[in-house]
Amino acid sequence: MASLIDFIGNTPLLDFRSVTQGVSARIRAKAEHMNPGGSIKDRIAAFILRKAIDDGRLKKDSTILEVSSGNTGIAFSMLGVTLGYKVKIMLPKSVTIERRNLIACYGAEVHLLESVLRMHEAIALTEKMAKDDPKVFLPRQFSNPNNPRCHYETTGVEILKQHPERIDAFVMGVGTGGTLMGVGKRIKEAYPNALIVGVEPTESAVMSGGPPGCHGIQGFADGFVPEVVNIENIDQVITVTTQESIAMARRLSREEGYLVGISSGANMCASLKLAKELGNAANIVTILPDRGERYFSIWGS
Ligand SMILES: Cc1ncc(COP(=O)(O)O)c(C=O)c1O
Repeated sequence: MASLIDFIGNTPLLDFRSVTQGVSARIRAKAEHMNPGGSIKDRIAAFILRKAIDDGRLKKDSTILEVSSGNTGIAFSMLGVTLGYKVKIMLPKSVTIERRNLIACYGAEVHLLESVLRMHEAIALTEKMAKDDPKVFLPRQFSNPNNPRCHYETTGVEILKQHPERIDAFVMGVGTGGTLMGVGKRIKEAYPNALIVGVEPTESAVMSGGPPGCHGIQGFADGFVPEVVNIENIDQVITVTTQESIAMARRLSREEGYLVGISSGANMCASLKLAKELGNAANIVTILPDRGERYFSIWGS
């Protein structure tokens, strides 16, 4: 019997007609918003749950407990229904109401955190909760090596197949860093000269040495450099503002027909900045991490 979990991944690699006008480099983007739960996070949720079921750590009566800025929570909530597990998600109050509603629609429990900067504390709290209750299963997206491994084994492999020509740069914003690290490693193995480029909000440029701060690129930079991230594997970091990311996300729907979220706008802005640096004939690959419908409460329809 076909299950939702089997339809995660194998997303298209899209081209652009309008927002790249005047740019001689070729920019292509993996359409992760087309996953069944609407984001790239479906991949790691499926990968982590499958591994945990296989090695016996996830039992029938386990409760999945995760700290998330939304999309991982949505992915676990959806797969919790598919596979039959209870799910509890801790997420910052600042994330869009659509994210909260989606998690609730899948029947998962939502615990709100005062701010995105509290995520670090919430992670410590979940560790204590798991210690006290053996039924609690922690996916630990910020530190679980299966997060980057998932992208190394799936997203990265798909990109190399879909883009058989040389890749000069991979551009991706950092939330947990799983995508950048996993896909980056796979691309670097195939093209050792390829640049692995991180993207972060100008308002919270922690990888660039700045202080943590509030920003509106949901899914990026929770104010600390996660354990999954090995800074030495990042060749360059590009900063983009929330405002320019939102403006680009809106252009992507109006000019390309890609209804994607703010971080997709951020990745695209960073790719365009890099394209100017790299010039002619460069091949840049980036990611459209999630769907635009979950941001209507911010930017209207
Ligand atoms: C919308 C969005 N963009 C980007 C990211 C960053 O992905 P990663 O956690 O692999 O760094 C996330 C992560 O939650 C996200 O939800």
